[in-house]
Amino acid sequence: MSDARRLFERYLAQRNAAGEGPFIMDVSATMPPRTAQDEAPMPDRSPDARPVRARSRAGKPSWKKDAPPIPPAGIVIPPPSSDLFSSDPLAQCDLEQLATTIRTCTDCRLCEERTHAVPGEGRGDANLVLVGEGPGAREDETGRPFVGRAGELLTDILASIDLPRDTVFICNVVKCRPPGNRKPQQDEIDACMRYLYRQIDYIRPKVILALGGTAAEALLQTRQSLGSLRNRVHSFRGTPLVVTYHPAALLRNPHWKKPTWDDVRIARQLLEQ
Ligand code: URA
Ligand code: URA
Repeated sequence: MSDARRLFERYLAQRNAAGEGPFIMDVSATMPPRTAQDEAPMPDRSPDARPVRARSRAGKPSWKKDAPPIPPAGIVIPPPSSDLFSSDPLAQCDLEQLATTIRTCTDCRLCEERTHAVPGEGRGDANLVLVGEGPGAREDETGRPFVGRAGELLTDILASIDLPRDTVFICNVVKCRPPGNRKPQQDEIDACMRYLYRQIDYIRPKVILALGGTAAEALLQTRQSLGSLRNRVHSFRGTPLVVTYHPAALLRNPHWKKPTWDDVRIARQLLEQ
């Protein structure tokens, strides 16, 4: 069991002791055993593998300096009960097969106006999965997630915590662009979530970072405000999940930069454990 998991279970124990439970303690009992990925070394940190190096002081990456403490536990979404005879064909798909399915998906009205579906991109063995809301104009044009202005900011944020963009996996709640960049509607989210569930299930990251209210609400099945979901370590099917502002929201409101910096450093610390 990874240290992050052990730490998280300690939080759950504390919540249970405080009478706020019952929360599931032994997620490992309901989940498939973790693989070599669990023990895998951190991503290649050679200078060549890091397009943008975070400034370091006395050899320490700057994000570690004055990083906020790990916050208390939040919402717990338990793992699904295992179904050995699952009839869901997606359950057998790898990321590439999943992307192929997504590109031809017609399960909701968003397929009608898309140029390209945007399945997501990154490492299949990523330690961190980032989840946004849905593709915008640039993403629809290119078929790639977070490549517009918000995407550039996201790339910079990742670099600031010493995670080159190509070491993580980036995707969205809905895989096709909602017309005019409106928020995805609930039935569109419902139709698309099975792809996100499978992506997370396949990658089995150490940490999930939900970017903005849509991702947080969809993954944690809540209508709580983003402000109240931040600064907690939630559990999504046994994986620690941290919520922060959407980079597009940061472009509109620079006041959210400091809290976002705190949130991503919390996620970064959970990755180290
Ligand atoms: N905003 C999102 O939520 N996702 C993207 O891929 C791009 C912008
Ligand atoms: N509210 C949201 O839903 N998302 C943000 O990123 C900020 C405020």
